[in-house]
Amino acid sequence: MEIKVFDSVQKVGQAAAMIFAAQLMKNPRSVLGLATGSTPIPTYQQLIALYQEGLVDFSQAQSYNLDEYCGLSHEHVCSYYYFMHEQLFDHINIAKDAVHVPSGMAQDFDAECKGYDAAIAKAGGVDLQLLGIGRNGHIAFNEPDACFTHGTHVVSLTKSTIQANRRFFDSEDQVPTRAITMGVGSIMAARQILLLATGEDKAEAIRDTVKGDITPQVQASILRTHPNVVVLLDREAASLL
Ligand code: F6R
Repeated sequence: MEIKVFDSVQKVGQAAAMIFAAQLMKNPRSVLGLATGSTPIPTYQQLIALYQEGLVDFSQAQSYNLDEYCGLSHEHVCSYYYFMHEQLFDHINIAKDAVHVPSGMAQDFDAECKGYDAAIAKAGGVDLQLLGIGRNGHIAFNEPDACFTHGTHVVSLTKSTIQANRRFFDSEDQVPTRAITMGVGSIMAARQILLLATGEDKAEAIRDTVKGDITPQVQASILRTHPNVVVLLDREAASLL
C-alpha cells in the first residue's frame, strides 16, 4: 500500500485525476471503476478540466460504478446514476452505453447482481478502481460485518451510513435503507485501486485501515493484501497515522 499525503482536498483530487489520466493514456480502452460521495468530486472536476484541455480522452473507456440505492430510479436526483452524470459523464466524451451503474430498480436483484459481475468480467475486469471510505471503514456499501463478501449483492445500510448520507436528502426517512453494491471480492479483483480520504472525520477509518487488524469489521483493511493500492489523503485524514 503506497500512501501519499497532500496539503489540500484539491491536491488529492489533482493527484487522483493524474493517475486516471495516466491510465487512460497507457490504455485508452481502460475499464474504470468509479465511486460516488463527496470525496471524488474534486477528482471528477479535475478530470473534466483535463478533458477540456484535450489531455484526457474517454471515448474508448468503459466505467462501472460501485453501488446504487435500492428503490431510486435514474431520474431521482439522489440516485448515484444521476450523481455520476451530473458530476462527470455529462461533461466528458465517454460513450452513453459505456457507463454502468447497478440498477436500484431491478425487478430481480439476484439477476441484477449476477449480471453486473458478468458484465465486468466480460469487459476484462476493472483496470483502475476509485474508492472512498466510510467513517466506519466501509468500501462501496460493504459495511462492518462478520465476513468479506465476494460479488455484487444487496445490503442493508447501517444507521451510521444512513445518517452520514442524510445530507443529500431532504430528511433521514427519505434515505433508502438498502443498496446494491459491488462486493469486496469484486473490488479486490481490480488491477489497481486508488483509495481517497479527506477530512478529519475519516482519520480513524484510515488509521484502522492502514495500521489495525485486517478484519471485516473494517472492510477497507483488506486492501492491505492487494498488490497495487495507492492511498491519497489530505493532512486531516492522515492525522492519526
Ligand atoms: C460511494 C461509496 C461509499 C463512499 C463512502 C464515503 O460510491 O461507495 O463507500 O465512498 O461512503 O463517502 P463520502 O465520500 O461522501 O464521504
